Amino acid sequence: MKVEFPKTFFWGAASSATQAEGRVVGDGKGENIWDYASKEYNHRFYDGVTTENTSLFYRDHQQDIQKMQDISFNSFRTSISWSRLIPNGTGKVNSEAVQFYNNVIDELIANKVEPFINLYHFDMPMVLQEKGGFENKEVIEAYKQYAKTCFELFGDRVKYWFTFNEPMIPAEAGYLHDRHYPYVVDFKRAATVLHNIILAHCEAVKVYREMKLAGKIGIIMDVIPVYPRSQNPADLYAAEMADLFYTKSVNDAILKGKYPERLREVLEEYDQLPEVTETDIQLIATTSIDLLGINYYRPRRVKAKECLPNPQGVFSPEWFFDEYVMPGRRMNTSRGIEIYPKGIYDIAKKIQTEYGNIDWFVSENGIGIEGEEAFIEEGIVQDDYRIDFLKEHLMYLNQAMDEGSNCLGYHMWTFVDCWSWGNAYKNRYGFYRLDLSTGAKTVKKSGLWFKEMIENNGFD
Ligand code: FCB
Repeated sequence: MKVEFPKTFFWGAASSATQAEGRVVGDGKGENIWDYASKEYNHRFYDGVTTENTSLFYRDHQQDIQKMQDISFNSFRTSISWSRLIPNGTGKVNSEAVQFYNNVIDELIANKVEPFINLYHFDMPMVLQEKGGFENKEVIEAYKQYAKTCFELFGDRVKYWFTFNEPMIPAEAGYLHDRHYPYVVDFKRAATVLHNIILAHCEAVKVYREMKLAGKIGIIMDVIPVYPRSQNPADLYAAEMADLFYTKSVNDAILKGKYPERLREVLEEYDQLPEVTETDIQLIATTSIDLLGINYYRPRRVKAKECLPNPQGVFSPEWFFDEYVMPGRRMNTSRGIEIYPKGIYDIAKKIQTEYGNIDWFVSENGIGIEGEEAFIEEGIVQDDYRIDFLKEHLMYLNQAMDEGSNCLGYHMWTFVDCWSWGNAYKNRYGFYRLDLSTGAKTVKKSGLWFKEMIENNGFD
């Protein structure tokens, strides 16, 4: 066997509440920003598909977990939906939801699939968004109470907890780049949201530690490794700034306990610094995590700016760099993003050299493909491209581990084709195909390959 992984390695997939649960009449779920936005801003969603029927994990979880076991998963990440558990964001807990999450957790454990549970995957309860979402400090307190409720209800069985999935995204997509509700375009407000999410993370970790539960807690980050066009100082500067804004801002706060000094200087210079108190700085400095999840999909190639930004325009990290379209880059045309397997190795090395070689795992990696039905032969999606994608990424991961990286597992996005934020069901990612018209979930060739790979702890 050429590419071999430890026997204790975590293998599985990731999913999230809003993208997979669906809603059924009488489930007592409150509305979140996605339920609201996919209705009210329906034109922003591919084919106008709302969150209503997403993959129906709520209804099918028993059979779905059986399907995970069928392809030999030993672990699975999903998230708890805050608005399902606590429909008004604070206060009364929905007993239907408690029952549902208890069933999911117990069923996973009974099938020897370790539950990895995330508390927040982009899905702010609507009632709290109406109060300003993470711009409002009261929402940090509400999140802390929600986290505590989850630890109390499920902490006896869940050993791996995550506070947030991709903390940068709700800030960047929701408050700067007009991709997620509330579709605000304002850097300083985005920075405030990011800062408050980091504080909410710290508060949840603190509560978890106080409860002295026997488990680990961490966070899931989206890391986009940055590559400059050339070694010219102007290109290097562009890369430094892209990395500072999009990666170091969060990574340093969470993993080093402080924001980069350089970031503070730049934000001060442009009058974009959010309010950060001494107490906040202390809280960040005294919080540490046990396990880091990294979502990796693509590299970010950058070059020096070709035109000066309009100083009257909205301030943005893109004032400092341009995207570099590298000739010959290998693209996933369904998503319009580059495929670059070595990025996973580069991230692993960075964690090893700059972030204390903390225990981590690949919490998402995957390839979304449009029109996968074209690859169905004999009832199965023959997704050899996904198998190649997996092999290439796993080879680089394996190399980094040989060189000492503390990687503990690999989760693919995702288990069954699910709804995406905006693209809905356009691009498919699953090990199982979801037939939207019948609801049938059928294993793809990659699911069978993954099973064999898990059983052999690697591949040739
Ligand atoms: C990630 C998100 C996840 C999924 C994949 C494709 O950024 O965490 O929810 O949509 O992208």
